[in-house]
Amino acid sequence: MLPLLKLLQDGQFHSGEALGASLGISRSAVWKQLQSLQAELSLPIHTVRGRGYRLESPLQLLDAAWIDANATGAGWPVTVLPSVDSTNAEALRRIEAAQSLPFVVLAERQTSGRGRRGRSWVSPFGDNLYYSLVLRVEGGMRQLEGLSLAVGLALLRVIRESGVVEAGLKWPNDVLVGERKLAGVLLELSGDPADVCHVVIGIGLNVNMLSAASAAIGQPWTSMRAELGRVVNRNELVVGLNRHLSHYLDVQLRHGFSALQGEWQDCHLWQGREVMLTAGSEPVAGIVLGVDHSGAVRLLVDGQEHSFSGGELSMRLRNDS
Ligand code: BTN
Repeated sequence: MLPLLKLLQDGQFHSGEALGASLGISRSAVWKQLQSLQAELSLPIHTVRGRGYRLESPLQLLDAAWIDANATGAGWPVTVLPSVDSTNAEALRRIEAAQSLPFVVLAERQTSGRGRRGRSWVSPFGDNLYYSLVLRVEGGMRQLEGLSLAVGLALLRVIRESGVVEAGLKWPNDVLVGERKLAGVLLELSGDPADVCHVVIGIGLNVNMLSAASAAIGQPWTSMRAELGRVVNRNELVVGLNRHLSHYLDVQLRHGFSALQGEWQDCHLWQGREVMLTAGSEPVAGIVLGVDHSGAVRLLVDGQEHSFSGGELSMRLRNDS
């Protein structure tokens, strides 16, 4: 279906005959594929007798060749999949299959996108970025400490550079605009974290999504398009993301998170705010002091400083501090 979608992505009318001729298939085969596009990808297609078919809104598909040709950072090889369960799951399968490292997996949509703390990540077709980068990490726990915060910083840089200047970070690695979530990071490990392991850096960024999937998202959210009032080029975002990730990961892997601690705190939207931290069954109330050299959050709790870390922790504002 992807070749057909590429022909239709301009949002203009194309006759069944012209589409069939370009693809080397019959008009009825074109029609069947159009039905599948509508049904499987929930892409509305308009049909007008005498003019042909067009997508309700134009699409700009991800383009691995364009991303490669315009790479300014590490030049990680990129694979684009039209549809996958989860780019993180796919990356883990590719590690098992001994694909050479590093590499990036992108998808136009995910059918079982994974979020932190067992949540799902809403991933409609063609709108957003679903990105997984796989790296080999040799330094054990020291290199992994704070890694997800360093990734959040790289993600924030590309988002601000693209115009969403008021975006900021929420510990550990959410990107928010005000209290609305714009992007999230999910790290998954394969191998022995104390020795040599592979880390899958999964990033979900709401780029051009407007209202379609809103009902399924269980928290306030936004997208770059909603903030900027214009469609954002996802291929350019991938190039920028690779460039910023390659810089921040290099700093993190050479010097550890302590080298990024100050910069991270400057971007933290909840510095000094009163929060509730849910850690297991007992919520902890405190005031955010910052993050420590390992990326743990520092809270003032009953007049004493405590640090908390762990992927299962979640933080929310207490009242409206
Ligand atoms: C979060 O809950 O904030 C983290 C969301 C991470 C979503 C991304 S989308 C690409 C990658 N593949 C997944 O299944 N999840 C991550």
